[in-house]
Order: sequence, then C-alpha cells, then structure tokens
Amino acid sequence: MGLIDNGGLVSGESKAMNEDTDVLGWVPAGLANTIQHEAVKRSMIKQNDLVLWRGADGLAHAWENRCPHRGMRLSYGVVRENRLTCLYHGWTFNGDGHCDTIPAHPDLDPPATICTKMYRCVESGGLLWVAHENESSDPPMVRGNWAPCRSLHFSREVALPDLISGIDVDTLNAHAQYLNPPDKVKMLLAMQPMGKYGMMLHLTLPVDATTEDHHHASRWFIAHRLTTEIAA
Ligand code: FES
Repeated sequence: MGLIDNGGLVSGESKAMNEDTDVLGWVPAGLANTIQHEAVKRSMIKQNDLVLWRGADGLAHAWENRCPHRGMRLSYGVVRENRLTCLYHGWTFNGDGHCDTIPAHPDLDPPATICTKMYRCVESGGLLWVAHENESSDPPMVRGNWAPCRSLHFSREVALPDLISGIDVDTLNAHAQYLNPPDKVKMLLAMQPMGKYGMMLHLTLPVDATTEDHHHASRWFIAHRLTTEIAA
C-alpha cells in the first residue's frame, strides 16, 4: 500500500522506498510557473509524495510531503517569506529544511536534527526538475528559452517514444524530449511518472511562441492523449 490519506497525515509507509519507487535521475515535477512566490503545491514522482514550494526569494524547493513532527502533509502548509510552516502545530522550516520555530516552545532553539527530507530542485526549460538529494549528475541542460504551455494527466504511464512515434525527436534525458513536428512549432515534452496514478506530461514552447502556437500545441497535446488512451 502506498500513501494513506488521513486528514493530511501521512503514513510512515511512504518513507519506504526501493529502486522501483525511488526518484532516479532528474525527473520533471511540474511547470515552473505553477508555483508562485510564497506558494506551495503538492506533487508526486512515482510513489513519492512531494511538496513543492517557492519562497519570496524566488527559489523553488522540493521536499518529502511529510512533516517530521507528526506526519502532516506539508503541502497544506503556508509560506511566509522564505519559510514553510506546517498547518498542524505550526512548526516552521527554513529553506535548508531545518526547523527554526516550534510555537509550543517559543524559547527552544530546535535541534538541527529536526529537518525535512529534501530533494534537489532546479528550474530549466520552464520546468521544475527534481532529483534525489544524493544525485551526483548535473541537472538537464535545456537548450534555448522555454515558456510553460500546459500539463495533462494520462491514466497510465506511456514511454515517450511510444507517445510520439512518427515525429522527429531529439532526446534531452530519459524523461524529456524536444519534438520537431512538421509545420508546427518546436516543443519540449517532459514526463512525470506517478506509478499507479499514471503520469503527468508537461509541455513547454519557445518563449517567442505566439498565443496561436500555444493553442495549436495544446490541441495537438490533447489529441495525442486521446489516441494514446484509446489504444491502451
Ligand atoms: S505535524 Fe507538523 S507541526 Fe505537528
């Protein structure tokens, strides 16, 4: 069994990860523009429940979506300036993942051992890329400047080559490819695997793409999903 939803509390089972469920390499976790400054959002990679948040300084963070106190989902929390506060008992964590405030013990300097499980998180190509804290490889180097277009949920995971067969592609990494459809604007397609929940596909376009390009790409994207799910 994976995550257990209990009013926002997360079962300790979510911490058990293995090669099938761990975050391997750099994986897209969402479009960069979906997390505004001082905002928080839930995401998922394979079976890993994540909280994505951005401070007032503009830096994006990816953590395990579980408060180290009693397991409340941190995605229910609030961001003020550059700190995330858990909704349940108000423990507050700074950008390094360390707890610096416990409201029930206002005079306590929380020990450094109270910290969240952190992932590496970078922005590139209009996407947020997440990797295990110990990932040694560099983040994907996305060529050019890209702007987020849209994300779509797919009911099952589909390998990128199967999804875009017949279209000229240029691989960026295992989860993302540049698409070069004939007579259409170039696209960057990125896959976020979510295990039994299927997957999210994120689409970005060159920053100089027109509004009509975005509409065109969006319609193409939806048609591909229909084709893919009908073929399943
Ligand atoms: S569960 Fe987060 S502060 Fe208590």
